[in-house]
Amino acid sequence: MTVKIAPSILSADFARLGEEVKAIDEAGCDWVHIDVMDGHFVPNLTFGPPIIKAIRPYTRKVFDVHLMIDPAQPSLEDYAKAGADIITVHAEADRHIDRSLQFIRSLGKKAGLSLNPATPENVIEYVLDKLDLILVMSVNPGFGGQSFIESQLDKIARIRRMIGDRAIDLQVDGGVTADNARRVVAAGANVLVAGSAVFRTSDYANNIAALKS
Ligand code: DX5
Ligand code: ZN
Repeated sequence: MTVKIAPSILSADFARLGEEVKAIDEAGCDWVHIDVMDGHFVPNLTFGPPIIKAIRPYTRKVFDVHLMIDPAQPSLEDYAKAGADIITVHAEADRHIDRSLQFIRSLGKKAGLSLNPATPENVIEYVLDKLDLILVMSVNPGFGGQSFIESQLDKIARIRRMIGDRAIDLQVDGGVTADNARRVVAAGANVLVAGSAVFRTSDYANNIAALKS
């Protein structure tokens, strides 16, 4: 299984966001992970569709948009138009997950569902065939630089079994480092999000390579 690295631009220099996106592209990232926070679902506020649209010309890589917003439904189309390729909503912020996933696909985008650390994996059971990606949060969402919550390894393994032979990416986000990446992949993840671990030094290529090896 090839592992994809999706650097989170939450840890980038916001004053130079376009150049930062170009830099992680050139450093060999697979996807660009974009953390949208609303100051309501999570205690932090980042950016929305206009900024995503502004950075879109800086790379052709997949824009993996992680919506930590409640409600997400009313603005899904705005994120699609801004240049998202994958749109991930949170199970805890959506009363109509099935509808949102279908709607994202109807916009021609890949549909993702994210679970907070305390959310059990059974919420995906009846929407498995409407999912392109499952995102396991291995920290409580809102901030970069937190420590990996070990209990999520078990959840990752269970979800990998639930996925079976379906073409669904299993992504893990929060506290992923070169030290624990191997265990996260061994549990079943195939996409690793990393903010601090990629942006901690200016040698992004080296930091991405360390996560991959
Ligand atoms: C947290 C975000 C993560 C975060 C990861 O709410 O979804 O993507 O930026 O950052 P690190 O890798 O620093 O834990
Ligand atoms: Zn994220």
